[in-house]
Amino acid sequence: MKILVINGPNINMLGIREPGIYGKSSFSDLLKLLEETAQAENLEIEQFQSNHEGAIVDEIQRAYGVFDGIVINPAAYTHTSVAILDALKAVSIPAVEVHISDVDSRESFRQISYAGLACCKTIKGHGLEGYREAILYLKALLGGKIA
Ligand code: DQA
Repeated sequence: MKILVINGPNINMLGIREPGIYGKSSFSDLLKLLEETAQAENLEIEQFQSNHEGAIVDEIQRAYGVFDGIVINPAAYTHTSVAILDALKAVSIPAVEVHISDVDSRESFRQISYAGLACCKTIKGHGLEGYREAILYLKALLGGKIA
């Protein structure tokens, strides 16, 4: 089972950016968590991070026919990008949206998620653990354990 984890702008700044909101763990801690999860769950996990909307669209298109599931934190593009929403719809790969922070309890402009409209589940406010939860959810979904 092949899962692609996509992170949007400023996620590479984890540990440095607003630790009161996003925590003290770094982006390399996140990469380590993904590697550990891949090993523990016997999954192939690739990750991609970009600060550029078009690069994220390109990566979603590249996933077509290659990956079984997508975990995506579009970061700020969550709240603005119809292009990312359309790309997720175009490939129709089961996708789970992750947000490290609890976007619901933040500014009103964070309450709208375009990408989320193409995702079968959203996990928010669980810190980096949210990525593990998203991967486990996709594994169960793709394995036919949940409908
Ligand atoms: C985020 C929440 C977004 O509103 C914000 O722009 C981010 C990160 C999160 O993971 O909590 O960059 O997606």
